[in-house]
Amino acid sequence: MTLTPKSVARISLVSSLVLAAAGAAVLAAAPASGAASTLGAAAQQSGRYFGTAVAANKLGDSTYVGILNREFDMVTAENEMKMDATEPNQNQFSYGNADRIVNQARNQGKRVRGHALAWHSQQPGWMQNMSGTALRNAMLNHVTQVATYYRGKIYAWDVVNEAFADGSSGGRRDSNLQRTGNDWIEAAFRAARAADPGAKLCYNDYNTDNWSHAKTQGVYRMVQDFRSRGVPIDCVGFQAHFNSGNPVPSNYHTTLQNFAALGVDVQITELDIEGSGSSQAQQYQGVTQACLAVARCTGITVWGIRDTDSWRASGTPLLFDGSGNKKAAYTSVLNALNNGTGGTTPPTSTTTTTSNPGGGGCTATYSEGEKWNDRFNGNVTVTGTDNWIVTVTVSSPQRIIATWNTSASWDSANVMTARPNGNGNTFGFTVQHGGNWNWPSVSCRVA
Ligand code: G3I
Repeated sequence: MTLTPKSVARISLVSSLVLAAAGAAVLAAAPASGAASTLGAAAQQSGRYFGTAVAANKLGDSTYVGILNREFDMVTAENEMKMDATEPNQNQFSYGNADRIVNQARNQGKRVRGHALAWHSQQPGWMQNMSGTALRNAMLNHVTQVATYYRGKIYAWDVVNEAFADGSSGGRRDSNLQRTGNDWIEAAFRAARAADPGAKLCYNDYNTDNWSHAKTQGVYRMVQDFRSRGVPIDCVGFQAHFNSGNPVPSNYHTTLQNFAALGVDVQITELDIEGSGSSQAQQYQGVTQACLAVARCTGITVWGIRDTDSWRASGTPLLFDGSGNKKAAYTSVLNALNNGTGGTTPPTSTTTTTSNPGGGGCTATYSEGEKWNDRFNGNVTVTGTDNWIVTVTVSSPQRIIATWNTSASWDSANVMTARPNGNGNTFGFTVQHGGNWNWPSVSCRVA
C-alpha cells in the first residue's frame, strides 16, 4: 500500500494501523515459530513487561488465575491499594486484599506496580472532609506508611494519580489535596522516595495521550519542572482508556517520546480499548507499536483480563472474552511484541552520517536508534546554529512514518524537511524500511 507524504506527516500512528488493516492476515496468524507465545514472554524479549490489573476477589476463579499466571509478568491491584482500601480509619492500615494480590504475583515471579498512593478519588471517608495542614500531613503519613510497608516489593508506584484537570486549562484539578497547596504533588513524591528508595516513582493520569491536548502539555510542564528542580520522579503513567469518543491518537508515539526525552520512563498503565474484531485489534497493535518505538517505554498494563472483568464490561475492551478465549486484539498485541523485538539482524548501514554541504554554517549528524523487523529509528543532532533546516532523504521503498522534536514537512515521498519546534537541536524519526536498511542522508542549512 502507498502512504502519501501528507498522511505520513499527520497520522503517523494511524499509518501503522492502516498497514495492519491491509495485512489482516497478520492479525489472524499464529506467532512465527521461535516467537514467544505469551504476552509477558513476548514483551521480555525487548526488556519490557506486559501486565494486568488484578482484583483480589477473583483470585479464586481458576480460569482467571490460569490466564493471569500464563500471560502476564506485571500486576497492578485494581482497587486494593487505593487510599480507602489501605487506610479505612485514620492511622489504621489494612493490607489484607492488597497482600493477597502482591503475594500471588510474587509467588509466581511477577512484579507489582503500586496503585495509587495519593488521589483525589477513592479517599476514605475520614479524609474526604479534611483540609489544610491536617490533610497534608495525613496524606504524607499515608504515603510514608504504605510505601514503607511495601518497601522492596514494588517495581513502580503511582505516587499521585489524576491530579490535572480535563479540558483546555492545562492546570491542576481542584481537590481537597490541591487546596493544601500546589506543592502537594512534589511533597508526595519526596515522601515516597524516602519510604522506598528502590521503587520507581510515577505520575499517572488519563487523557494525556494526545500530544496536542492541554492536559498532556500541563503534565509535561510539571514533569519538566520536577526534573529541573530535582524532585524525585522516575516515570509517567499513561492510563490509556480508549473508546470511539476518545480514540488512540495519531501522535501517541510523539507523546511517549517527548515525555521520555525528559529523562523519565513512560509506561502504559491501564490500557483498554472499547470495540471488537479487527478494528479493536488494529488499535491495540498501534498502541503496542507506539510503546515499542520508544526505548524508555518500559511496559504495558491492560486494565483487566477478560471483558467481563472490566470496569466497563459492556464495551468489551480487553484481550480475552468472557470465557477466557483470546480475542483478535490479543493476537495483534502478541504479534506486535514479537515483531517488535526482531528475529532478523539488520545489515550494517551503508550511507553517510554527516553532511555540511557548502560549509553553510551547520552540521547535521545522523545516529541510528532502535531497529525492528519492519522499521528503525534515527536521530539527527544539529550543531552550528539554532536556526536550522535539515533535509532528510530516505531511499525507496523506505517511508518516514513518525517524527519527534521537529516540525516536519514533505517535499516528496522520500524527502522530508525538518525545522526546530522549540525542543532543541536533536530530533528523530521512524523509518518503515520495506527491507532497505540504508541510513537516510541528512544535510543542514541555516534558515
Ligand atoms: O466491591 C464493592 C461491592 O461489594 C459493592 O456491592 C459495589 C456497589 O457499589 O461496589 C463494589 O466496589 C466497586 C469496586 O470498583 C469493585 O468493583 C466500587 O463501588 C467502584 O467504585 C470501584 O470502581 C473502580 C474505580 O476505579 C474507582 O476506584 C474500578 O473497579 C476500577 O477499575 C477503577 O480504576 C480506575 C483507576 O484506579 C484509575 N484510573 C481510572 C480507572 C477506571 O475508572
